[in-house]
Amino acid sequence: MIMFDDLQSWRQERIRQTRAGSTLGFVPTMGALHEGHLALVHRSLSENDRTLVSIFVNPTQFDADADLAAYPRTLDADCDRLRAAGVDAVLVPSAAQLYPDGYRYRVVETERSRELEGACRPGHFDGVLTVVLKLLQIAAAERAYFGEKDWQQLTLVRALAEAFFVPTTIVPCPTVRDADGLALSSRNARLSGPNRQKAAGFHRALSSLSTMEAERRLREEGFVVEYIEERDARRLGAVRLGGVRLIDNVPLGRADDSHARLR
Ligand code: PAF
Repeated sequence: MIMFDDLQSWRQERIRQTRAGSTLGFVPTMGALHEGHLALVHRSLSENDRTLVSIFVNPTQFDADADLAAYPRTLDADCDRLRAAGVDAVLVPSAAQLYPDGYRYRVVETERSRELEGACRPGHFDGVLTVVLKLLQIAAAERAYFGEKDWQQLTLVRALAEAFFVPTTIVPCPTVRDADGLALSSRNARLSGPNRQKAAGFHRALSSLSTMEAERRLREEGFVVEYIEERDARRLGAVRLGGVRLIDNVPLGRADDSHARLR
């Protein structure tokens, strides 16, 4: 596995790959890798000749400095996992390389980025869409892999690629869950023992109750509910538990009969 920490040498490598006729799959990440990321990596490895993973903790998508500072940075362990998985290349750019303009130029989506996550975290999706567009341009991959856990991000990235004629196909990948249903996330490591057990109630409520009932049940169980809402035949939610923010979403078809009757 080759590590690229400057964009120019990656570009040279990609030109060599293209000349050799190799297809490339790209998995953008912020590191702190878990099995959810590895599922994207394995999908990419199975569908492309080469796989590139980027690790960049993107400062522009954090709305609070404390959150950015607290974000886990585990580069050595991440690289070990990617090497073991059979990844060809890792791109680890600096903020100065990715933002030579100091973030004067940015991608702003004016409707769907303003609701749900965007309403709770102002500016979050400006940062996400801007860095994703930059990374897609730099990677120059045939396919890029995004998890369905971040459903709103996935839908906005797909629309971004269409809007800016990005030739990379955006491939959605199913959410990976622990045995009790909790969606894998780098934040789960910050849940204390009892809260880790309680956290499974989030997915249970989203997938088995109506939106109103889920919200009530979660509050009763000690979650702070930021939103539970329905969009695109899915129920999406964000909660806080012991100071840890969790998001998840489920297709509405999987809700139980009582929910179907209520709707
Ligand atoms: O989903 C993430 O990890 C990030 O939002 C992404 C897509 C890597 C952009 O920084």
